[in-house]
Amino acid sequence: MERSLVLIKPDAVERNLVGKIINMYEENGLKVVKLKMETISRSFAAKHYKDHIGKSFYEPLIEFITKGPLCAMVLEGENAIERIRKINGSTDPTKAEEGTIRKLFGTSIRENCVHASDSMESAKNEIELWFNNN
Ligand code: CMP
Repeated sequence: MERSLVLIKPDAVERNLVGKIINMYEENGLKVVKLKMETISRSFAAKHYKDHIGKSFYEPLIEFITKGPLCAMVLEGENAIERIRKINGSTDPTKAEEGTIRKLFGTSIRENCVHASDSMESAKNEIELWFNNN
């Protein structure tokens, strides 16, 4: 069994898409094993997005991800990391495949509704960062 950290970002929470998005993961057989809602600070966002520090889109990304509540969860299932990335679709909603979350609901390359861990190592680090208290 594999675990991945998934964020339903502030754009999706704002548009009442939390239930629809979680349903897409559950329908695919993935299990929600941890879940919380939070408006994160800039310093916490900087830890989550440390790999993007210095990139041209970094500052507006931090503004966006801290602008309101988001939903953080750990999903579990066989091959979860790859399956979740397929369900999410390409980072850029205009390039995402039909039926993916980002194609259905994303409005821009930044406001793309969801984040998911991209490797086993980032899953381990991100789950520890977001849920280290239990
Ligand atoms: P995410 O999967 O959370 O990982 C990094 C985030 O940065 C990405 O989703 C987008 O929200 C954002 N992002 C990535 N590339 C760009 C870009 N070229 N321009 C603006 N935002 C981006």
